[in-house]
Amino acid sequence: MKHTASKLFTALGAAVALSFSASALAQNPIVIKFSHVVAESTPKGQGALKFKEVAEQLLPGKVDVQVFPNSQLFGDAKEMEALLLGDVHIIAPSLSKFDRYTKKIQIFDLPFLFDDMDAVDRFQQSDAGKSLLDSMQNRGLQGLAYWHNGMKQLSTNKDELTRPEHVKGLKFRIQASDVLEEQFRALGANPQKLAFAEVYQALQTGVVDGQENTWSNIYSQKFHEVQKTIANTNHGVIDYMVVTNAQWWEGLPEDVRTGLQQAMEEATKHANGLAAELNERDRKRILEENKARVQELSREDIAAWRKAMEPVWAKFEGDIGADLIQSALSANEQ
Ligand code: SIN
Repeated sequence: MKHTASKLFTALGAAVALSFSASALAQNPIVIKFSHVVAESTPKGQGALKFKEVAEQLLPGKVDVQVFPNSQLFGDAKEMEALLLGDVHIIAPSLSKFDRYTKKIQIFDLPFLFDDMDAVDRFQQSDAGKSLLDSMQNRGLQGLAYWHNGMKQLSTNKDELTRPEHVKGLKFRIQASDVLEEQFRALGANPQKLAFAEVYQALQTGVVDGQENTWSNIYSQKFHEVQKTIANTNHGVIDYMVVTNAQWWEGLPEDVRTGLQQAMEEATKHANGLAAELNERDRKRILEENKARVQELSREDIAAWRKAMEPVWAKFEGDIGADLIQSALSANEQ
């Protein structure tokens, strides 16, 4: 009798423990950490916030999306490794920061490849562009979407920036990209790879003389306060691939993955719809504040920059692939 009662208690105890852990599971949303390096006021910052909003609306109580802007959680140097280790779940690095994982994505850094952001968008939405989202699966990374920022402008601490000869011998901060390194070498300048979070100080203290970035990044990081001149070169693009850890993504419950995919589609529309407007807003703010001079370039000036940067293409054509370059070029013509 005593024996039967103790068995009963043990069984009851196990049942209670099971129901506790089941309800804990039901109550504990999946924490999704989304880390990025820019300000919340930028296209990427806004996209990440929209993703959180829509994901939590579509999956109430099932996910808790935590967004960390401004390199608060991980900066450029660490975010990929952190993603692969599972310390963060979604990141959206600039397309210039993937060359350790695939050479193909270097295509976005070829100078003067795209005429404008519409061409960038057409290429990203083409079969060739979409295939790049899956090109790093063997390295554990799954691309989820492309997000826009905008075209890059050059800035320096010198007075003149209309012609390539004005940057000869200057030190430029670049993103971690071999193509960008070659681009500045072609100009006779000295490139230095630095994390985004370090750029303001490097410009302020003269560790580097200049940099290249979009209007929204220049304004939100206050680069225009520590540079003398910004030239409207539009010589390249800063866009993003939103990426996740492929194994983590595949391991999510199906309804959660589907909801997150839908949230990502909405966030992508939102960020990409805003990007041009936010860059234009920040270009105007920079002009109004008048801390750095903005130089407009003539057709001849642009042609001179294009010619000076041209040798970069031949150096990377083998790695990137002539076919892929052709697909990107055809996006200009539509
Ligand atoms: C970013 O827009 O994510 C950063 C770009 C940069 O490193 O310059």
